[in-house]
Amino acid sequence: MENRIPVYAPSLGQRERENVLACLDSSWISSKGEFLPRFEGDFADYIGAPFAAAVCNGTVALHLALLALGIGPGDEVIVPTLTYIASANAVAYTGATPVFCDSERDAWQIDVADVAARITSRTRAIMPVHLYGGTCDMTELMKLARRHDLFVIEDCAEAIGTRHGGTHVGTFGVNRRSIGTPYRRAKGTPLQLRGLVDAGRVFRAAGGVGRA
Ligand SMILES: Cc1ncc(COP(=O)(O)O)c(C=O)c1O
Repeated sequence: MENRIPVYAPSLGQRERENVLACLDSSWISSKGEFLPRFEGDFADYIGAPFAAAVCNGTVALHLALLALGIGPGDEVIVPTLTYIASANAVAYTGATPVFCDSERDAWQIDVADVAARITSRTRAIMPVHLYGGTCDMTELMKLARRHDLFVIEDCAEAIGTRHGGTHVGTFGVNRRSIGTPYRRAKGTPLQLRGLVDAGRVFRAAGGVGRA
């Protein structure tokens, strides 16, 4: 078909080529060396976050965030039905139950009113998915989450460069503004963002839940 509009197209240019070749030439292609901390630092600066931890793909990022927050069997996480399967998979990998909610008719982003209707005593977190470069209504969603003491884990796999009211997505949810109380209640210890990022790094380094 002509006049097709791609969902996305990769943007790979000379700089990507140079950096990949520099990695290969230096043999630093793994989790050590100068490239990873440089990438994490630059990425954190770009989105306006205090820290970033790089992992191999979006599914792993979501899985690690859930694990680092202690989400597991018996817990429920609200996920939109209209998303890529990885959002729900990451919840299922922890042993928690994905609870599906509806999306807005026009914008296709998570429907905050429907999220509210699906909160139960087992709900621990909400996973808004910023689809197709768009953004969920993070103002209303964060209000709802605070009211019910829930974690918010943003799936930003399709939204690098997307801002809501001037703030980059991915910095509303599990960050220093919202991390305190639910974790304290669940585990008896306060958790700072630094601790969460470190917990994610431990899981990343261990290569699996069992060894972390
Ligand atoms: C909304 C969404 N979440 C998660 C993922 C998972 O990312 P990955 O394929 O890198 O594991 C994707 C990938 O396309 C995605 O679109």
